[in-house]
Amino acid sequence: MNKISVSSPSNIALIKYWGMSDAKRTLPANRSLSMTLSRCVSLYTLETLDDSSPDEIYWRAEDGTLEAADPIMRLGIEQHVRRLRQCSDFRQPLRIATTNTFPTSAGIASSASGYSALALAFAALFGQLSSPDQLSGLARLSGSGSAARSLLGGFVTWPGDADDPQSPARQLATAAHWPLHDIIVVVDGSAKTTSSRIGHLRAQSSPFYQRRQQLLVERLRHLQHAILTRDFSRFADIVECEAIELHLIAMSSVPPLFYWQPATLSVLYRVQQLRRNGLDVCTTFDAGPNAHVLCTPEHCPKVLAVLRELDGVQQIIPDQIGEGPQVLTQALF
Ligand code: DP6
Repeated sequence: MNKISVSSPSNIALIKYWGMSDAKRTLPANRSLSMTLSRCVSLYTLETLDDSSPDEIYWRAEDGTLEAADPIMRLGIEQHVRRLRQCSDFRQPLRIATTNTFPTSAGIASSASGYSALALAFAALFGQLSSPDQLSGLARLSGSGSAARSLLGGFVTWPGDADDPQSPARQLATAAHWPLHDIIVVVDGSAKTTSSRIGHLRAQSSPFYQRRQQLLVERLRHLQHAILTRDFSRFADIVECEAIELHLIAMSSVPPLFYWQPATLSVLYRVQQLRRNGLDVCTTFDAGPNAHVLCTPEHCPKVLAVLRELDGVQQIIPDQIGEGPQVLTQALF
């Protein structure tokens, strides 16, 4: 095979990976748990070229044309491909094209979907290194730890075990087990100015960080139980508390990282109100101002209608839990 196309989804963490135990190996200081998304995916096509050619890297625009990838994206892809090659015998030049099904400038992290897709495509093209555990290690070569979770569907935990060279993510439950929705509420679509990597390195400077590490053990256990028993009320309490705590650690780091904007809080307040009124809905955030509003399928239309009326909302992207990466039959070029 000399050409392969894959898609890999974004994911939203419910228990956040925030802080590293080993920055070189991209290993987390704590276990995390996420929900893999369905519609927000990165697509990649890789094709081998003649030995004498240089690598070619393209972004596929919405109208289907291939254009040169922007310099930051190009750098990330080149670096990841270099590391993937170092882990394998494959040196052949590649033509690479990528795109996202979600607006790339919408402030939604695309590194987890993009780097997991690239690792998967590379491994599939060369027919090696394709056990799930190996793929996890390959995805994290990018420096994006959350990319390891995107390789699996449904609810996914990443123990981050430092004794395991691959330190893989594990599926806790399938998407069909509990088909929750994630309504992504964009309040600021600009690219973030401080990377998650800086946040991870700075987390320990928060005076609340050590206490968080202690609390997380029980929190993760309770959240796993809430998911396995589909207990939304318990799920919502834990997920919202955890999302607020991520930002509390960020805001109290030295120097502080402040991601929230006024509309971030408006979404949180309104969702809490809806929950008090009996709807199965709660909010979580990643390291940015945008909200992920999680709800059950039956309450989704009502929640969507309310969110569309909120001031300060730039864009709403409805998504839901998904099955994980796929090999595609249609190529980007
Ligand atoms: C707050 O280092 O995996 O989203 O490289 O931006 O994908 P990216 O981030 P990564 O850190 C993720 C931080 C987080 C929480 C999480 O996803 O667990």
